[in-house]
Amino acid sequence: MRKKIILSQEEIQEICAKLAKQIEAKIKNADKVPVFVGVLKGSLNFMMDLLKYIKTPIYTDYIQVRSYFGTSSTGRVQLLKDLSYDCQGRDVFIIEDIVDTGLSMQFLLEHIKSHQPRNVYVCSLFDKINARMVEVNVDFAGKVLEKNDFLIGYGLDYNELERNVPFVYSATPEDIKVLDEILEKDENDSRE
Ligand code: IMP
Ligand code: MG
Repeated sequence: MRKKIILSQEEIQEICAKLAKQIEAKIKNADKVPVFVGVLKGSLNFMMDLLKYIKTPIYTDYIQVRSYFGTSSTGRVQLLKDLSYDCQGRDVFIIEDIVDTGLSMQFLLEHIKSHQPRNVYVCSLFDKINARMVEVNVDFAGKVLEKNDFLIGYGLDYNELERNVPFVYSATPEDIKVLDEILEKDENDSRE
């Protein structure tokens, strides 16, 4: 079955080059080296490609959060891995795969702002503008999505599968069925 492609490998490269240009315009006069913070694990693919187009000296760091959606509609975010650098007085760019409800990014912004950076910017490959539960602004968006489809590939996962796919596709029920079968078989195998 043909996949419903949302971003091809070529389109991803074009987006990375375009965003890098916009970001470089912001950091060219910074007196302190800016920090690019990748949100694990989904942003890794995007971060690596984006950084290839940034020619200005930067630091890189990584942070990891987990969001819970229990029975309440609010959700809760937990920090799994904190920053390694002190970002006080620096420009910080949070690099994310997708901003959906905004809960993770709201948490990350509050957390990073508590370290007194000079500025914090959000750069996300995708911005699902109609899925927000809290108000979060994406300063640098690769692609704005009007529809709330579930996307897979290029860092975006379905139960940890498909992060290695080099393009992004919108998951059909058939795609999910195939992935569920892989997951089910894997669980069965590991129990033998
Ligand atoms: P939030 O809802 O804005 O807090 O997004 C939390 C995280 O959910 C994102 O960083 C992604 O890792 C994940 N996520 C949101 N939408 C999708 C999707 O369409 N596909 C895969 N992961 C998603
Ligand atoms: Mg993520």
